[in-house]
Amino acid sequence: MTSVDLNPPRDHDVPRTAADDAPRPWWRLERWWGFATGLAVGLADLALTLLLGLRFEMNGLDVTLAALALYGSTFAATGLLFGLVLEARRRDRRAAAIIAAQMETAGATRARLAQSEKLAALGQLAAAIAHEVRNALGIIRSAAQGLNEGLPAADADAQRACSFITAEIDRLGSVVSSLLSFARPPRLTPRAVAVDALFDQALLLARQDLDAKDIRVVRAGAASLPEVSADSDLIVQVLLGLLANAADVVPRGGEVRLGARADGDGLVEIDVADSGPGVPEELRGRIFEPFFTTRDKGTGLGLAVARQIVEAHAGRIEVAERPGGGALFRIALPEARAARMEAVA
Ligand SMILES: Nc1ncnc2c1ncn2[C@@H]1O[C@H](COP(=O)(O)OP(=O)(O)O)[C@@H](O)[C@H]1O
Ligand SMILES: [Mg+2]
Repeated sequence: MTSVDLNPPRDHDVPRTAADDAPRPWWRLERWWGFATGLAVGLADLALTLLLGLRFEMNGLDVTLAALALYGSTFAATGLLFGLVLEARRRDRRAAAIIAAQMETAGATRARLAQSEKLAALGQLAAAIAHEVRNALGIIRSAAQGLNEGLPAADADAQRACSFITAEIDRLGSVVSSLLSFARPPRLTPRAVAVDALFDQALLLARQDLDAKDIRVVRAGAASLPEVSADSDLIVQVLLGLLANAADVVPRGGEVRLGARADGDGLVEIDVADSGPGVPEELRGRIFEPFFTTRDKGTGLGLAVARQIVEAHAGRIEVAERPGGGALFRIALPEARAARMEAVA
């Protein structure tokens, strides 16, 4: 398995730079270079003609200089025209590149719009169903609990059946909740938060899952980092999902590493790496799709929701192979300072 480039070029970037857009100074325009070349050829001809002693005569008059001036200016004009053609071709190429980039962006926007329309419809449907299902689940759960309490202590089979019912109802409840959070676009209340505080909170909530499998947690490098602009509840939810996935695949006694660094470009990168089997390369493009799961009891919504939340923060989430084996999930979030400056601009 090879590692994946975690910083691929963004595909909708328009291939233009500030230098491309600035008007070029006159001495960099092809037309003047063409003109100068034509003039130089004309002057060289003049020098050669004078050197060889050639003469042009008309009606007995020496018109050598006039003829050479005519040729020279024809060369210069041809050079100028040639330069203008080159400039026009350069302009066409640039315009074609811009149009191609704009069409690509428009295509991506259309796809996003279609996706958000689908999500909005799914959201309404999910909310309606969730309401009904949740009510029914609540009633079934409390009925099962009541039954359990009324059972004689000796009836172990029936008690086990009741606890199965409540456990499965709790699982269904969490499926309904993840479906709801996927279908409803997240509403953010971003604030400046320290990455360390996000780690603290996520680890506190994941502690039980991690301890149950004796998983060691290693934290590195988040103390002196700039704060990120984030809705801490939502980002903690993302981290918790990643930790739950890690706890699921890491063998007993394995390891989870949390780390963070500033990328120097206004983003803070947060890594969650585990010593599990890693994500096979052919699945890396699919694990963020909604409903993609390889687990028997998985919903396939954890990473889809995580991506939705991170992208709503103008960040990104990617997966790669951890050096030495295992999965490495990397979340990039905007630095609080960079986000503030953008808001002011
Ligand atoms: N840490 C990990 N190591 C290996 N595979 C993972 C890891 N995290 C996620 N995956 C893969 O991604 C799939 C989707 O994950 P997720 O969206 O959280 O859904 P679920 O956990 O319900 O399966 C998982 O079924 C698993 O195949
Ligand atoms: Mg999951």
